Amino acid sequence: MDIGSSKEKTLTFYVNGLKVVEKSPDPKWSLLFYLRTKYLTGSKVVCNEGGCGACTVMISKYDPKQDTILHYSVNACLTPVCSLHGLAVTTVEGIGSLKTRLHPVQEQIAKSHGSQCGFCTPGMVMSMYSLLRNYPQPSMKDIEKYLEGNLCRCTGYRPILDGYRAFSKKGIQYDPTQEPIFPPELKINNEKYRNEFLEFTSGKQTWFRPVNLSQLVELKHQYPHSKLVVGNTEIGIEMRLKAMKYTVLIDVSDIPELVEVKDKILELLLNKIDSIPEEKTRSFTAIVEMLKWFAGKQIKNTACIGGNIVTASPLSDLNPVLQSLGATLQLTSSANSSRNVVMDRAFFTSYRKTVIKDTEVLHSIFIPYTSKNEYVSSYKQATRKDDDTAIVNTGMRVVFNENSNIIKELYLSYGGMAPTTVMATGTMKKLVGRKWENDLIPVACEALAEDLPLQPDSPGGTIEYRRTLTTSFFFKFYLSVIQQLSIMGLTKSPPQSEMSAIETPDYGSTEGNQFYEKVSEAQAIDNPIGRPIVHQSAYQHATGEAIYVDDMIPLKGELHVYPIYSSKAHATLVSVDFKPALELEGVVGYIDYKDVPGSNILDVPQEQLLAIDEVTCVGCLIGGVVAVSSDIAVEASHLVKVEYKTQDKPVILTIQDAIEHKSFWKDPKITACGDIDQGLTHCDHVLKGEVHIGPQRHFYLETQSARAIPKERHGMDLYSATQCPDTIQTGVASCIGVASHLVNCFTKRVGGGFGGKEVQCLYTGCLAALAAKKYDKPVRCVLERQDDMVITGGRHSIYVKYTVGFSTEGRISVLDINLYVNCGDDLDVSEPVIDNTIYRLDCAYKVANVKITSYLCKTNVRSNTAMRGAGNIQAMYIMENIIQHVIDHLRSDPIKIREMNFYKEGERTHVNQIIENCFIERCWQECLKTSDYYNRKKKVDQFNSENRWRKRGISIVPLCYGNSFGLKMLNQGAALVSVYKDGSVLIAHGGVELGQGLHTKMIQVACATLGIQYDMVHIDQTATNTVPNGTPTAASVSSDLNGMAVKIACEKILKRLEPIKSEKGTEWKDWVMKAYSERIALSDTGFYSQPNLGYIAETGCTNTFYYYSFGAGCSEIEIDCLTGVHKVLRTDLVYDCGTSMNPAVDIGQIEGAFITGYGLLMLERYKVSSTGNVITRGPGNYKIPSLTNIPGVFNVSLLKNSPNKTAIFSSKCVGEPPLLLSMSVFLAAKQAIMAARQESGVEGYFRFDSPATPDNIRMACVDQFTKQFPICEDNNVKPWFVKL
Ligand SMILES: Cc1cc2nc3c(=O)[nH]c(=O)nc-3n(C[C@H](O)[C@H](O)[C@H](O)COP(=O)(O)OP(=O)(O)OC[C@H]3O[C@@H](n4cnc5c(N)ncnc54)[C@H](O)[C@@H]3O)c2cc1C
Ligand code: FES
Ligand code: FES
Repeated sequence: MDIGSSKEKTLTFYVNGLKVVEKSPDPKWSLLFYLRTKYLTGSKVVCNEGGCGACTVMISKYDPKQDTILHYSVNACLTPVCSLHGLAVTTVEGIGSLKTRLHPVQEQIAKSHGSQCGFCTPGMVMSMYSLLRNYPQPSMKDIEKYLEGNLCRCTGYRPILDGYRAFSKKGIQYDPTQEPIFPPELKINNEKYRNEFLEFTSGKQTWFRPVNLSQLVELKHQYPHSKLVVGNTEIGIEMRLKAMKYTVLIDVSDIPELVEVKDKILELLLNKIDSIPEEKTRSFTAIVEMLKWFAGKQIKNTACIGGNIVTASPLSDLNPVLQSLGATLQLTSSANSSRNVVMDRAFFTSYRKTVIKDTEVLHSIFIPYTSKNEYVSSYKQATRKDDDTAIVNTGMRVVFNENSNIIKELYLSYGGMAPTTVMATGTMKKLVGRKWENDLIPVACEALAEDLPLQPDSPGGTIEYRRTLTTSFFFKFYLSVIQQLSIMGLTKSPPQSEMSAIETPDYGSTEGNQFYEKVSEAQAIDNPIGRPIVHQSAYQHATGEAIYVDDMIPLKGELHVYPIYSSKAHATLVSVDFKPALELEGVVGYIDYKDVPGSNILDVPQEQLLAIDEVTCVGCLIGGVVAVSSDIAVEASHLVKVEYKTQDKPVILTIQDAIEHKSFWKDPKITACGDIDQGLTHCDHVLKGEVHIGPQRHFYLETQSARAIPKERHGMDLYSATQCPDTIQTGVASCIGVASHLVNCFTKRVGGGFGGKEVQCLYTGCLAALAAKKYDKPVRCVLERQDDMVITGGRHSIYVKYTVGFSTEGRISVLDINLYVNCGDDLDVSEPVIDNTIYRLDCAYKVANVKITSYLCKTNVRSNTAMRGAGNIQAMYIMENIIQHVIDHLRSDPIKIREMNFYKEGERTHVNQIIENCFIERCWQECLKTSDYYNRKKKVDQFNSENRWRKRGISIVPLCYGNSFGLKMLNQGAALVSVYKDGSVLIAHGGVELGQGLHTKMIQVACATLGIQYDMVHIDQTATNTVPNGTPTAASVSSDLNGMAVKIACEKILKRLEPIKSEKGTEWKDWVMKAYSERIALSDTGFYSQPNLGYIAETGCTNTFYYYSFGAGCSEIEIDCLTGVHKVLRTDLVYDCGTSMNPAVDIGQIEGAFITGYGLLMLERYKVSSTGNVITRGPGNYKIPSLTNIPGVFNVSLLKNSPNKTAIFSSKCVGEPPLLLSMSVFLAAKQAIMAARQESGVEGYFRFDSPATPDNIRMACVDQFTKQFPICEDNNVKPWFVKL
């Protein structure tokens, strides 16, 4: 057959109603790349791997069979442009805009405070929009399902869900007829578009789109190594992240025989399940159960089953079920012949290989019905329950002899236990002929252990957990089958409490309440202080009109620089060969240390910017490749050849390594009060213990980004996503060797910082500036997610050895603590971070005798840096773990012990500061009451006594948080307020808008001070040429510092207007005009420095903090003891915001911070291999909380009637302290585990380190299954990832 003739070489599709005709599209273009190069920058690049949803757009196509338009959300980053022929794309810009009209979906997320930094917002909007186009009146479950594939690091999801709740059944009536119509031309010419055989070639890659099966098999014959593309969710990742090169891609999405059921597989199976007797469709039910946990909505919308099978990933979700079912595949090849292949144990031949030949196409799958005596189950365990690839999964099927419980056939297939999906053949054989009763379990466990061995250093790690899962899953299967058999009277039913192993509770949709004080009726209507004003940029976020660094339209000739970084943890740099990169078309040149005209040593972090002869971590910068486009720069960066010599360079990664090698940055620092030795002599009890808290990554959605534009006199303008423009200004000036006044840094907004852009923003800033200097062109440097996670550091892990002394009642009087902090390969801001831990280690508790010895560990991991609650959450973790140790030891009431140790008004802390206006007790009591703690504790105990395999825990923790930068000089703020002749006001201040609503609050301050309306005031950006020497936007104090400065500047202007104001009948605009005509200055600066910090002679105290914030948090959790999965059932937070300046912004900060803390303690695990390589580089393997992780009930109350006289408008800071309340979840989990351990007769205190990921929870729930796989203690084994 000739497939060479009549191929169409032009691609036609629509974007937002406009026709796009591309003459020779490049097969490697993703839709996201394409849209953004056409200046449709609303869709954001966050991960480029389908894992975050920030690039979500909607695709619409005409379905001639049903004469209907189908709409579905997709990740634009994984959608090849070439696959869009005859389709319509709708982006966030296409549904509404501030220039025309807002779409209700955009309006709703903005109005409900569902956007903070706004980087995730366009994606959220488009997921919700796609849902409404399909279901104009969705249920909350639908909304959650559609948003499952969208991540947000700021909001904690609650306001997004709440906002969109309005569209659910009883809310906003959404009218789809108001939407833009599907392009009529696509409908009219549908047949033409569908029947065109496409061929696009660019460079070395060709894209074919055959339109029938015979064309396809012919192509497959001609190009046996070609890849078929359906969802591109495997191929796309392989090409992008695994550098696989495929020269021929064949789009099969329009071949009717292959996509017959693709769009409706779930629907089809569910229909069958509903319409056919249950006993026949157990196989379908098992598949449906697996699909429930399969990826997020956007992936589900595009990925096909064939892709899952043929890729043959050992973590495929469908392969274990299909293999256990013995599904048959029909394969077609060019000879017009087809053959059937059964997915039996011979099907998978090696890693990602099957018996399917290169020339064969998977045509159809035959899934057998089940019979009356046949049962099937499927189980999947992932780190995050939803939208995550499996750790272990399984499909299990058993067939019994007629009317008996004797096993006739058994099929057990597992994923995640070998390089392929495997069958536990030994176990299957051994169990056939046996009765399905209790004796089976130990035999099965022993056989499974033999069938599914894992070496201690196997890829994936968590060896013991994975092995335990194999038997735990079997136990679940056993119980689910025995339940059926007992109903039929074929065996005895197990005790009811055992059945908790197989219950799948429906936790319902998330709900929550927010309580705050409304402003008094006497307050002027225009005075916005205390009102829930919407974020200044919320509408721009929702429409995609908000501009971030990489959204800026490039200047003529703008270049891109991409970093070259070390792939060795510690090595001598032998040579760096840029030649192969320079040969790539579009590459302009490179930079390395020789191109640094100024200082190659950064100020903070105190490190070499570009390595000269040594690299000290994976991620160490070596240089950069400069090219005409970002994709060429990235590609070229991979071509640079770096030669290392690793001999004689020890690799120290973990704290334990550092202790062993005595690798410390400085001598230990001792902080003490009282007398430890003396104190211990008065203690009834003394305990010793250890705790470790793991690291965390910022996972801001906008990666590190900067643009540098050279200007006159060797100066440079920088546009940077930084938390501190001053850092960029000073760092870049020093690096390019000019005075600071020749460098400006501008920051309009940042797509999330969380501390990661406080100093480490310098990497991209300096690279861009150096390249701009060398090539005298504007240069942009924007990191890809997978490199951002390597080049930048994160939260410090800390290991602690402690001695605690206390009385029999539980009064703690001695704490002796050795604190080891993993700083990494540079000190960065580790010293202030560890000071935070030291100063706040007391938490809410008075301890008379304290000694803290802190060690700064020098390791070969990327230098750790500031991160939201830096050092503070570690302090809370350490102290609360110690308190819990005391409680467990005394077997006492956690409430009583905590209360007994609370600070009282006027007491001094261990660093000699007086606690004033102490609201610990007030917050605590309110939290006990609002959470209904005591009643719920009883119910938890009741639940635990009735359920063997599900356990609950409830815990409440107090918060006492001193506010201020530890470094006194940073506690200053500055502002410039300019009043224009029309009365409008422009503010500039030293703080950066990171999503935290700082600009919104500053506008509120100006309005309230000047007495003008909110829309009269604007903040454009933060810039070093308007407000110099700005303090980093960090440590939660930016509103305090800059707010005061804005107020002072406004008051100065007001004072000058005083004489004019007295004229009757005039108002603001008249005063301003009059002042102008009388030559009165209409702009002024404000400067504020927090008073009374440092040593205070009158009290003999040292005030490290300006004031304290208080709070309390109560959380209840449920765990599945057999898998380690948990669900936070409810959280109640009480937080003391003083008099909130903006309750909506403040509650948003509380919820967002809490969920970030939850991520640290319960979910996120940053993995580094034993050679120092970073394993977790993106959302695919680094799991931040998604919306299903948030508490089922999430209540937040702002403490009423608690004005803070010392800060701006009586408010208190909020960005970080509530993060610490997430400790309540961790301790609740520990309690639940303790209840599980008690069932196995294991009593009392146990060490349990964060994160409480499923593997850690599972292995701590000691039982017969975990005991079978004791943790490997062999020090010679190099684990797959190390405990940093
Ligand atoms: C964010 C994300 C989340 C994911 N989550 C999960 C998950 O939870 N569980 C899971 O199992 N997987 C998951 N995956 C992996 C992936 O989505 C699935 O494997 C999916 O089924 C692949 O289908 P596709 O259409 O995208 O395949 P493509 O990438 O289009 O193709 C994959 C391979 O299949 C071959 N192929 C496709 N169709 C045929 C055919 N008819 N005949 C012969 N060969 C064919 C292609 O040649 C290619 O080699 C995830 C992927 C991403 C990016
Ligand atoms: S950028 Fe596309 S899913 Fe993350
Ligand atoms: S608002 Fe969602 S990531 Fe910032």
